[in-house]
Amino acid sequence: MSERIKIAVAGASGRMGREVIRMVLEDDQLQLVAAIARSAGPVDAGSLVGKPGIGIMVVSDLSAALDAARPDVLVDFTSPKSAMPNTETAIAHGVRPIMGTTGFTPEQITELDKQCRDKGIGGLIAPNFSIGAILMMKFSSMAAKYFPHVEIIEYHGDQKLDAPSGTSIKTAEWIAKARQELRQGNPSEEEVIEGARGGYYNGFRIHSVRLPGVFAQQEVIFGAFGQTLKIRHDSFDRAGYMPGVNTAIKKIMSVTGMVYGFEHFLD
Ligand SMILES: NC(=O)c1ccc[n+]([C@@H]2O[C@H](COP(=O)([O-])OP(=O)(O)OC[C@H]3O[C@@H](n4cnc5c(N)ncnc54)[C@H](OP(=O)(O)O)[C@@H]3O)[C@@H](O)[C@H]2O)c1
Repeated sequence: MSERIKIAVAGASGRMGREVIRMVLEDDQLQLVAAIARSAGPVDAGSLVGKPGIGIMVVSDLSAALDAARPDVLVDFTSPKSAMPNTETAIAHGVRPIMGTTGFTPEQITELDKQCRDKGIGGLIAPNFSIGAILMMKFSSMAAKYFPHVEIIEYHGDQKLDAPSGTSIKTAEWIAKARQELRQGNPSEEEVIEGARGGYYNGFRIHSVRLPGVFAQQEVIFGAFGQTLKIRHDSFDRAGYMPGVNTAIKKIMSVTGMVYGFEHFLD
């Protein structure tokens, strides 16, 4: 058997981190060598996913953990605040960062690309690892060429802090690239209740629904004379991100430089 890819997981105690640990333990091409979380340790990382006794203790110091375990890849689902320092720490150790957290500026991504190239390694910053969500965006940009009238409705849980979602903004950017700018709707329309028409982006509207019981869904609706086309993606569980994270881990081993967006890893 060829050598397994050694993985460190940051944010190990979190909802996404636990899914990553579970996925790594179930893939015999991958080997969990470190688990990092600010306040969870010291506990056995396997106990976080109901598989105690794997012998990897959760620790809080990322740099020390990378020094000791020498992983090939760091998978990070922590917080936007720690995203940049964690990425720089990984690169400085020659460890390929796979960052699921948002919060990077374009200047930071350029800087991280340089750091990766200096070390001769690859890295990935991916705001969305869901293959279905990426396809929804691709199909929407294809449709926008033929159906320039469009609106987006995105649905998330009521505790989400930002609106509209990062995925809806990215979808809007792809649509804007695929069509001429077009100010939709009646030029004389008036909002009787402020915000009723949603957020304005490049001539079209994005609507954000926030409700308990909802996880993450998005609908892109195209309208033309006599027909509508709806492209919809529904996420129900964090496990749905794991095929994307798994693909990224395997592809990152043959990449140099920092890649922004998981779509670049899909054929
Ligand atoms: N790219 C994608 O497809 C995708 C999908 C879903 C979620 N996300 C993102 O992934 C991140 C984690 O989501 P989640 O639902 O798993 O959150 P969560 O359950 O709150 O877990 C966050 C984890 O990160 C650790 N953490 C938080 N702040 C930290 C910091 N400043 N430094 C080091 N560790 C820190 C926490 O440990 P302590 O509590 O011990 O500090 C915890 O282990 C969020 O940014 C979320 O937006 C991305």
